[in-house]
Amino acid sequence: MTAHSKSNTASRVLRVQSLSTHFDLGFAMVRAVDDVDFEVERGEILGLVGESGSGKTVAGLSILGLVEPPGEIIHGSVFFEGRDLTRMPDNEIRQIRGNRISMIFQDPLTTLSPTMRIGKQMQNVIAAHHRIARRDARVRCRDALGKLGISSPEERLNAYPHELSGGMRQRVCIAMAMLNEPDLIIADEPTTALDVTTQAQILQEIKLLRERTGAAFIWITHDLAVVSELADRLVVMYSGQIVEEGTAAEVLSAPKHPYTHGLLQSVPAHNRDLVRLPQIPGFAPTPVDRIAGCKFGPRCKYAQPKCQERPGLQGAVSGRLARCFFPLDETGDPAEDMR
Ligand SMILES: Nc1ncnc2c1ncn2[C@@H]1O[C@H](COP(=O)(O)OP(=O)(O)O)[C@@H](O)[C@H]1O
Ligand SMILES: [Mg+2]
Repeated sequence: MTAHSKSNTASRVLRVQSLSTHFDLGFAMVRAVDDVDFEVERGEILGLVGESGSGKTVAGLSILGLVEPPGEIIHGSVFFEGRDLTRMPDNEIRQIRGNRISMIFQDPLTTLSPTMRIGKQMQNVIAAHHRIARRDARVRCRDALGKLGISSPEERLNAYPHELSGGMRQRVCIAMAMLNEPDLIIADEPTTALDVTTQAQILQEIKLLRERTGAAFIWITHDLAVVSELADRLVVMYSGQIVEEGTAAEVLSAPKHPYTHGLLQSVPAHNRDLVRLPQIPGFAPTPVDRIAGCKFGPRCKYAQPKCQERPGLQGAVSGRLARCFFPLDETGDPAEDMR
């Protein structure tokens, strides 16, 4: 048993188990998600982080059965309330999507129809899952906008998406995702395209929403500054695999995996909005590259002969895991015999 079995069912909202999602391109097999395990507790914000291409989006889409061919879940399970979403018939998972588990995308226009008023679109989200009088639905939509700090919500309901700013549109999508009071929201880089001020406001609003509703979030981002603001716990992905996991405080202050350490080094503490420094030498392998041993090995300054073997996720303390034979110590240095 791994540390993932630690929590009891009552406090757990989702359990992803040995999940692998591949894209068979004919000439190559893309292992976008490669044997991934994690859990989400009720009411927690789990940050799913990693560089672009590490498999975060595909992992999020896999949970809700939204991966399109040639992508396919080739192995594993996603348990929600004791049922495996990957084996659920279409009509049943549709009852869960947008209702018990909802998703927010980076681009609000993926979600919003340009030709329909906001209010109507929001009401449709409720109507898809609940019998409710139009008038009551409208009140619920207005309240949902209000909870996201949107002023004159009644007016916004009558607006079309193009009449709103990008930040406002994303707030509408978040409000929509919250409408049916889901247990879990999967948010895929929802603030990445927004300016830092709007981003900071939205993160603040999300924290309040979580407190008020007890909803859990999987917050997908490549931006460590965002998760340091928001997340309770972090899962770090590299090339389709989880390489590190722990509470946000632990991972950010004392990363165990050299990759996480490198990611943190590349975020300057000050002026982080002015400069982005790609500090880890080398390139992330594409998921088609077959790397013997540790996938991070070719870029790792601490790599040893042992790293030709494939490391598992390991950790002495439950829930604090790193996929590394030579995890860094609290000071960010490699173990004694490696220096
Ligand atoms: N439709 C697709 N066809 C082929 N490869 C894909 C497709 N979607 C994603 N991938 C590949 O899967 C890997 C993970 O992608 P993704 O989950 O989007 O990364 P992230 O969200 O972390 O940036 C990448 O190598 C990407 O190129
Ligand atoms: Mg992505």
